[in-house]
Formats: sequence, C-alpha cells, structure tokens
Amino acid sequence: MMKGKTILLGVTGGIAAYKAAALTSKLSQAGANVHVLMTESAAKMVGPATFQALSRNAVRLDTFEDSHPGAVSHIDLADRADVAVITPATANILAKMAHGLADDMLSTVMLATTAPIYVAPAMNVHMYENAATQQNMQTLRDRGVQFIEPGVGLLACGYVGKGRMAEPEEIVDVLKAHFQEKMSGHLAGKRVLVTAGGTVERLDPVRYLTNDSSGKMGFAIAAAARDMGAKVTLIAGKTAVSIPDGVELVNVVSALDMYEAVMSRFAETDLVVKAAAVADYRPEETAPGKIKKTGDTLTVKLVKNPDILQELGQRRSTQFLIGFAAETERLEENALDKLRRKNCDLLVANDVTREGAGFGTDTNLISIFDRNGLVEELPLVSKKEAAERLIAACCETHVGSRSSSRRSDCFCSYGYLSVLCR
Ligand code: CTP
Repeated sequence: MMKGKTILLGVTGGIAAYKAAALTSKLSQAGANVHVLMTESAAKMVGPATFQALSRNAVRLDTFEDSHPGAVSHIDLADRADVAVITPATANILAKMAHGLADDMLSTVMLATTAPIYVAPAMNVHMYENAATQQNMQTLRDRGVQFIEPGVGLLACGYVGKGRMAEPEEIVDVLKAHFQEKMSGHLAGKRVLVTAGGTVERLDPVRYLTNDSSGKMGFAIAAAARDMGAKVTLIAGKTAVSIPDGVELVNVVSALDMYEAVMSRFAETDLVVKAAAVADYRPEETAPGKIKKTGDTLTVKLVKNPDILQELGQRRSTQFLIGFAAETERLEENALDKLRRKNCDLLVANDVTREGAGFGTDTNLISIFDRNGLVEELPLVSKKEAAERLIAACCETHVGSRSSSRRSDCFCSYGYLSVLCR
C-alpha cells in the first residue's frame, strides 16, 4: 500500500524524535518515498544526517535553502505529498498550525499542503491537557487533521500521564489503513473473475490426477478485489480453505468444467485473474468403474486440456488479464514467455522451490511482470498482502518504479488497464 507514496514526515523538538527515526526506516522499507522536515529544536534531539540516511532524501529545515533553483521547495514538497505526518508533534507546532503560522519549513509546508495530515502529539501531560493545547487540537480536528493519540505512561519529564508518542508500528498501521481506505472504491462497479485451486482429472470413480494447489492465493485475491469494491466471481477447483464472504462462488472439478465456467462469464468481465493450477492433460477416458489391477504396468493415455488463459488472451477485447506461473527454474524467462504466449497484461510468477513460496503455504514470494519486464518484486509476505499488492498494482496511479519522477498517469497509459482506472 505504501509503495511509491510520497510521505512528508515532520519532526519537531520532542524527546520522542528518536522514534521518528524508527518510523522513517519502517516507511522507507515499506517502499514509501519519505521526505523529512525538521524544526530547529528537533535537530537538537536527533541529527538530520540520521533521517537523511534512513530516508535517502535530503532533510529540510530551512525554508530558504532551495537545492533546486527551478522549484520553490516548500510548495513543491507540499504539492507532491500523498500524506503528511508530524511525529512527535509538540504543543508549539500544534499552536502554529492552529493559527496558520508559517515561520519555518515545516509549518510553511503544512500550511501549503492539501494532502491529508496526521499528527502524533508527544509532550508533558500538563502541556497536553492545557486548555490552549486542547483548543488548538480541536481547531485542527475541525479542519480535518487526524490525531494519532498519545499513550499514557511514564513521560520523559518524569511525570506519569497522557503524552507518550504513539509507537512507530502504530503510526505505520494508521498510514497503511489510510492508503488502503483510499483504494477501497477503486474497483467499484467492476466485475472480477478469479480462478483458484487445482483441477481434478478423473481416472475412474475413486482415482484422479490433481496437484498441490490449496487455492489460498486465489481466495486472497478474490477478497482483495472485493475489498476494493468489485463484484467478484470465484471459480474454484479443489481447495483447502474457506470461501471469502461476499463473493459469488462457482465450484468446478475438471479443467473442462473450469473452461466452461470461465468462458461463459468472460464477455461481461473486466478483470480476470487466473490463479488456478489447471491440469495441462486429462485422461482420454474416465473409466465408468474402478480400474482393476491386471498387469505389472498400466498405461494411461492423457490428452491435452484447453489452455484457458491462452484462449482468453485470443478472445479478449477490453478485459484485463492476469496470469500466474509457478516455476522451479528460470523464473523471469518462463514468466515473460508465458505472458507473451498467453497475451496477458500481468503475470505473477513465483519460484515454488523457495521457502515460504507457492502451494499450500500462507505466505508467498511473488514477482509481477508486464510486457516490458519486472514491474514489482515483493518480499516474502502473507498471501493476503501479496493479493492486496497485486490488485493495488492494477488500480493505483503508477508512481516511481520505472522513472524517478512522479507520474500522474496510471497503468492504462502503458497500454493496459484501460477499463479499470477510474
Ligand atoms: N492455465 C490455463 N489453462 C491451462 C493451463 C494453464 O488457464 N490448461 C493458466 C494458469 O491458470 C496460469 C497460467 O496459465 O494462470 C500458467 O499456468 P502454468 O501451468 O504455469 O503454464 P503452462 O502454460 O501450463 O506451462 P507449463 O506447465 O509448461 O509451465
């Protein structure tokens, strides 16, 4: 959710400024582009060099220090922000913001930005409870500033009470929820079809050919698309997980069943995610009765199943197609070959020999490719998180990864996702 997002991190002169360093590190690791703005008092608590090293961006203190003569830096930063967070926020910055003062870089940028602002106060309990501070906070709340409330505990000044800055993990969660919420309506009105699980190819009434797919990844994708407002149909083969609420479930058994179920719905679908592990071959005949043991060997003739994704790739008009590839070698080469052969927009590849990746696990290690190559390589994350990231990659404004400058265009400008971007 944070990848490519520009976060302004304001740090003011509280003892808890050291926690802001931990926060900078966590946000940067999550893929955010963090720009730290410090007050002079904050710089007496923690050196700007720490924030610069953690964010890999220049730290700003002085309104008049313009590193790029072509841009007015406080306005440029204010405009580029997806979100601003001030942590720790002293009583002083709250007062300045409440009264619209702009006498240093941070307060000026806060006045200039139209991005949502979060504030995590930290101060002595009496300063926090002072009517002036409370009134300033109410003024800011009324203007839409959101507060990440301080905790109660032993404060740096020796008092026990309310005023401890929220922990960095809590602030990360608030920001994640912020971006998630922003994405929640992105697929509103779109019809998404997800296939999941393994197909079952019958040899006889008691035996079949199948694979290790659990369906977890496809189910997580269905849930992620549902959470972004899509109307989701889940076509599921053999699975080992419970169905996400709020999606239409179509159970299928064989690859041929899945083929029918997908093709009959394709015309009215906007996005197809083919996460199912489809058997490439099926027994030419399914014996009506149990096959008896006769000779020392038994030969079963298999015939090719239709390649559902490939056929979708041939038939597609406006639909956006995402394929999957579970590989054991030459990941990128195989992924790009499948993507082109099957004419899909994105291909999600995972090396199932890597620990924590692939069939049956609750985690996955995926790389997302488009026609031009690698779009995104995710670390080992839960299948839920991988699914959310994949669906977000389909929807969000594309910032960053291919060029250092911000792009206000969305994925459709690369030739894909024309139907999904709103
Ligand atoms: N797929 C499909 N129909 C098939 C086989 C595969 O729709 N009969 C889809 C899968 O759902 C997946 C993608 O194609 O999204 C790649 O599947 P995979 O089994 O990795 O590729 P294959 O084309 O079967 O190639 P191979 O097995 O040789 O790696």
